[in-house]
Amino acid sequence: MWRFVHITDTHLSSTRNGVWNNRFLCSMMPEVMACLKRDLARLNPEFLLVTGDIVSNRSRDAVFKARDLLESLGFPYYPAGGNHDFYSMESRAWFLEAYAHRLPSLNTVYTFEHKGLRFCVLDPWWVWRDGALMPIAEQDIAEMQEEGLRDTRWALPPEQFVWLESILNAFPDQPTCIASHYPVVSPPEYFFQPEYNFAGALENGGLLADVLSKYPQVKAVFSGHIHTNAISRDNGILYVATSALPEYPVEFREVNVHADRIEIKTHGLGDPAFAERSRIRSREYTSGQESDRTSVIYFG
Ligand SMILES: [Fe+2]
Ligand SMILES: [Fe+2]
Repeated sequence: MWRFVHITDTHLSSTRNGVWNNRFLCSMMPEVMACLKRDLARLNPEFLLVTGDIVSNRSRDAVFKARDLLESLGFPYYPAGGNHDFYSMESRAWFLEAYAHRLPSLNTVYTFEHKGLRFCVLDPWWVWRDGALMPIAEQDIAEMQEEGLRDTRWALPPEQFVWLESILNAFPDQPTCIASHYPVVSPPEYFFQPEYNFAGALENGGLLADVLSKYPQVKAVFSGHIHTNAISRDNGILYVATSALPEYPVEFREVNVHADRIEIKTHGLGDPAFAERSRIRSREYTSGQESDRTSVIYFG
């Protein structure tokens, strides 16, 4: 058995605090990362999978500060970009520069294999108001998204479908995990309470789920973006969205890889004070039900 850890939506290098579903406290992230470092040392994962919104501040300096905080955790990691990382060509270039030494190739779309488990990391694009699919956000959205996500949509570009299928066809016998900042499927119905702030799933997620269902080696999809612990199971695939670290429940996923299965567990930080500071009464449901927190999927 070996394990990796899924963390997401760290929103580093920001002092901005507000409310998404619970209090969204970017200013506490340096302390959260220090606590996470101690927690990870106990778990000793082989690597971290970091699914985007790594940084929440639009400067080159902020990207490198965020990178240094990830490095400080003391484990190898595989980064993916989210809407706060990939909103302009400049921000995309900073990402590649900052994470060149962590990426298997100098590309934001990539695949790697670890002890027989394959990963495919995707880089969905922005859907502009006129319907165009672009690698960067419209200028006003790029400037406003720290405040909210009105008019934002994302989809996987056709080229990445082709790339993904080429990898899945080349390695049919390797159990495979997919990573995408934006969820492929919406979370279960019960999250959609009247006040739930839903950040959105991939616009062509249905099409992607159909493609993935044709490849029995695909076992799990790891996402962030919705700041919610949600797991759904569809066509033998676990769709795992994980909560954001600056927001209640301030949790991460432990993923244990056995010879015949993947087991997912959910952990709060060793110091529960961060989650408590963020928690808003009646909004605790973003931590998920039991089936959103513990799951297992078998190979073969
Ligand atoms: Fe986020
Ligand atoms: Fe996001």
